[in-house]
Amino acid sequence: MYRIRTGNLVQRLNLARNYTQKSTKQTRRTGLKILLYFSIPYTGYALYVFGSTNYEITRRERQLADKDDLEFKSTLVKYSPFQVLGRFENPFNEYRIQTVFEFFFNRVVEVFQRNRGGLPRSKEQMDELMPIHKPTWVTKGVLDNSHNEIEVEIKPFSSDEKEVNTEPVKRLYCTWLGQSCSVIILDKLKILTDPMFSKHLIHPTFGPQRITDMPAKIEDVPTPDLILVSHNHPDHLDEKSLKFWGDDHPQKPMWIVPKGLASYMIMNNVSNFTELSWWETCHVKIKGAQEDTIYQISSTPAMHWSGRSVLDANRSLWCSFIVHKGNKPVLFHAGDTGFVHDLYKRIVKKYGSGVRLALLPCGQYCPEWHQRPRHINPAEVIKIMNDLDAQTALGIHWGTFLLSGEYFREPKEKLEFLSEFNELKDRCFCPELGETLDFSNNVE
Ligand SMILES: *[C@@H]1O[C@H](CO)[C@@H](O)[C@H](O)[C@H]1NC(C)=O
Ligand SMILES: *[C@@H]1O[C@H](CO)[C@@H](O)[C@H](O)[C@H]1NC(C)=O
Ligand SMILES: *[C@@H]1O[C@H](CO)[C@@H](O)[C@H](O)[C@H]1NC(C)=O
Repeated sequence: MYRIRTGNLVQRLNLARNYTQKSTKQTRRTGLKILLYFSIPYTGYALYVFGSTNYEITRRERQLADKDDLEFKSTLVKYSPFQVLGRFENPFNEYRIQTVFEFFFNRVVEVFQRNRGGLPRSKEQMDELMPIHKPTWVTKGVLDNSHNEIEVEIKPFSSDEKEVNTEPVKRLYCTWLGQSCSVIILDKLKILTDPMFSKHLIHPTFGPQRITDMPAKIEDVPTPDLILVSHNHPDHLDEKSLKFWGDDHPQKPMWIVPKGLASYMIMNNVSNFTELSWWETCHVKIKGAQEDTIYQISSTPAMHWSGRSVLDANRSLWCSFIVHKGNKPVLFHAGDTGFVHDLYKRIVKKYGSGVRLALLPCGQYCPEWHQRPRHINPAEVIKIMNDLDAQTALGIHWGTFLLSGEYFREPKEKLEFLSEFNELKDRCFCPELGETLDFSNNVE
């Protein structure tokens, strides 16, 4: 009796062992299969995108007698948006495609980096390195927070003095709130760029966390007339802002978003928006007691990508914006971009030089081999500032999240060093969080 039972037990154990061995083998095999099922077609797709992009860039260049001719007609041939299999791709020679393999490889490498970003150990040290101010939004007089009735219409860009009144800008204030989120007061117009008011990226409670506090709560921000979104990435557009300034908001601000974002806006219950493609302009009219004021917002190219997941990657476009009052460029919001040697000269050819204020990203450039196609570094900030002949430039897109390998304050230190070296000290620097800066003075 006893023996038989033991035998049974041994037999059963053996069976179980065989079974687990088999099932681990099976799981491994299934895992490998899934990996192959995904990676083989994906690699094919990536090669196809790479090939089609190169083909298109060459085809466009062949169409031009002189590919360095800066006339807008040539610019349109060279740098119009284009898509492969329903997804936007970069038409720039400087670009190198990023595959999901590269993306995830870098996320894994990051896990093994100790003290990434070189953050200080204590909050006191951090407060000293990254002072946070309470925004005042304007530095002189009081903020006129009354609601502007505005009309927005997509029309060709105009520098015709009769069509766009030429009254120069009197007041220009900028408050940086972290990453690429800033509040700009442009006379009567209140602009918010790339809204980001969440503690974490990706999800309200997990995902990369802010390394510095938000200078202002979303409720304390003056209601914008316009919200400019450069592209659909979690650090440039958060769901909290969509919810807050969406259809439930009593004033429903106007969102200006890149082409292809409509379905995402509608899904998030935001219906007051305008989609712009590269080189498209919308005329924003503020109804005044005596005279209407016209601002023009134009979407200009950037070298980046978009999407919140693998599925929606590149379904919408990425861009920068140039804002005009009268026929003068006042504000350039670069969004996220890599450096394209002739892009900014082309923007100037079309929209004029000497923009009053350029907001340029200066962080997230390490490791260079990985980040360079999509992000500029401080030296390239100076180049763009020179190409635009900008009167002032602020280095933003740093000190907010740790999304790259450099020391977290390096973008500021490098940009300010280069700026001093180039005798641009007072015209090109990194703002402090929440500090309201006045650019009204340098009126012609
Ligand atoms: C998205 O676009 C970027 C830039 O062109 C490219 O590197 C990436 O491979 C694209 N992804 C997809 C899924 O098309
Ligand atoms: C859209 O936003 C503008 C600017 O804030 C506002 O004047 C307009 O009334 C809004 N439109 C709707 C339909 O809510
Ligand atoms: C949009 O509004 C509908 C109806 O009020 C609601 O059920 C849905 O959850 C909202 N969607 C988002 C993303 O907030």
